Amino acid sequence: MQIKNICCIGAGYVGGPTMAVIALKCPDIKVTVVDLNIERIAAWNGPLENLPVYEPGLAQVVEKTRGRNLFFSTEVDKAIDDAEMIFMAVNTPTKTEGEGAGMAADLRYVEACAKNIARVAKTDKIVIEKSTLPVRTAEKIKEILDRDGNGVHFEILSNPEFLAEGTAIQDLFKSDRVLIGGDETKTGKKAVQALVDIYLKWIPKEKIITTNVWSSELAKLASNAMLAQRISSINSLSALCEKTGADIEELSLAIGMDSRIGPKFLKASVGFGGSCFQKDILNLVYLSRYYGLDEVAEYWHQVIKINNYQKTRFSKKILEELHGELKENKIIILGWGFKANTNDSRESPSIFVASYLLQRGAILSIYDPLVKKERILSDLKKELKKVKLSNYQIIKLFNNLEILKNYKSSIHKSKAIVIMTEYNSFKNHDWKLISKSSKVIDGRNLLKNYNYSIGKPNA
Ligand SMILES: NC(=O)c1ccc[n+]([C@@H]2O[C@H](COP(=O)([O-])OP(=O)(O)OC[C@H]3O[C@@H](n4cnc5c(N)ncnc54)[C@H](O)[C@@H]3O)[C@@H](O)[C@H]2O)c1
Repeated sequence: MQIKNICCIGAGYVGGPTMAVIALKCPDIKVTVVDLNIERIAAWNGPLENLPVYEPGLAQVVEKTRGRNLFFSTEVDKAIDDAEMIFMAVNTPTKTEGEGAGMAADLRYVEACAKNIARVAKTDKIVIEKSTLPVRTAEKIKEILDRDGNGVHFEILSNPEFLAEGTAIQDLFKSDRVLIGGDETKTGKKAVQALVDIYLKWIPKEKIITTNVWSSELAKLASNAMLAQRISSINSLSALCEKTGADIEELSLAIGMDSRIGPKFLKASVGFGGSCFQKDILNLVYLSRYYGLDEVAEYWHQVIKINNYQKTRFSKKILEELHGELKENKIIILGWGFKANTNDSRESPSIFVASYLLQRGAILSIYDPLVKKERILSDLKKELKKVKLSNYQIIKLFNNLEILKNYKSSIHKSKAIVIMTEYNSFKNHDWKLISKSSKVIDGRNLLKNYNYSIGKPNA
């Protein structure tokens, strides 16, 4: 079966980049990315330097494909109707109300997509779960499609996305693996092959794994849990290093050289952020409890608890370094995105740290090269609302806050420079800009605190 027309529902951090790469690698396929968010679609159709998602290399891919075989649109029904293959790349945040609130994945956007597809589709469709979903969600989607559909045949595949923000385009060009879960039936196998054929345009055959749907759904949750677990493991050890005089970097090096362990994801930090790790682990915890596996649930829950502990520990460390004297001392926070090279700040540790300091009277300046001022302010507002501050209290705290366009001219006036994101420009300081009495508190290399003197670091 040769696919000529693809629709992707959800033009976010996954839908945008993945479809741009499919369009680039498969010029014979028309790819339409749709979203209900009118502003987002307008930005995808707008100037390349202002796309809603920042990823190195993304603008170049969009430049080559947009208007050729890649289209961004709000006409969801038309795109569904035209397509033979439909990706669902909508958000699946943690539920905030109802059964499983604070833990389970909120599937309302996925369910809305399924209902929309069922209502509109007049020909057979392959429906692909690109969103990260709890194991056995395909069953629920199938139920909706068959119940609300027009008698056409739907084949559901799971094809979770493993890209990492900040390196999404490279990850999509050279994926470690592509995972496709499908049914063992004749139509299931045919649908799997149709998707395999698309990836084969640029991914080597041996990197494309096909499994049953449940393994594929669960593999994505498990991969994120294992990645986050490594971060929490090394972060927990960073606390022990501080007490004992061991050096966390030396520890990471020594541990990572064991080929059974490997060196990646072993760097201590303020903690993991991003839209996925926390929500996916909470989802795993919820699923484990649902199936009566309380010990399994508790094991994974601890990964989140250590992450929260680390963010608090780091914030307290800043207070200690300034001897609690926050009101007289300006603090500059470098980095707002949850990692370098992304404009995504969802669950970024910077949000927690800045809110913690602001609530204790700190005078803060914040700088990030990619995250916009409005985004920083709305992240902080949301966080401060979580601790039940009123709008009036938030506005008052915001009087102590400045969002910088350029940090270099402010750095010498700051008592503490808190580095939150791994940008080389932050790493390679111009030492002359830092005053003798400034403290650099480096969250990327956690809790190693340097006192710099002009010209040469003394540590
Ligand atoms: N961000 C990542 O790095 C990453 C990586 C792998 C997997 N994932 C998973 O991919 C999924 C999407 O993540 P994201 O970061 O792209 O989310 P996102 O919030 O950036 O984008 C989701 C988009 O879907 C749109 N949408 C929601 N319901 C819709 C509907 N019914 N019709 C049309 N559009 C609708 C929203 O308006 C939004 O623009 C999630 O399940 C996430 O866990 C994300």
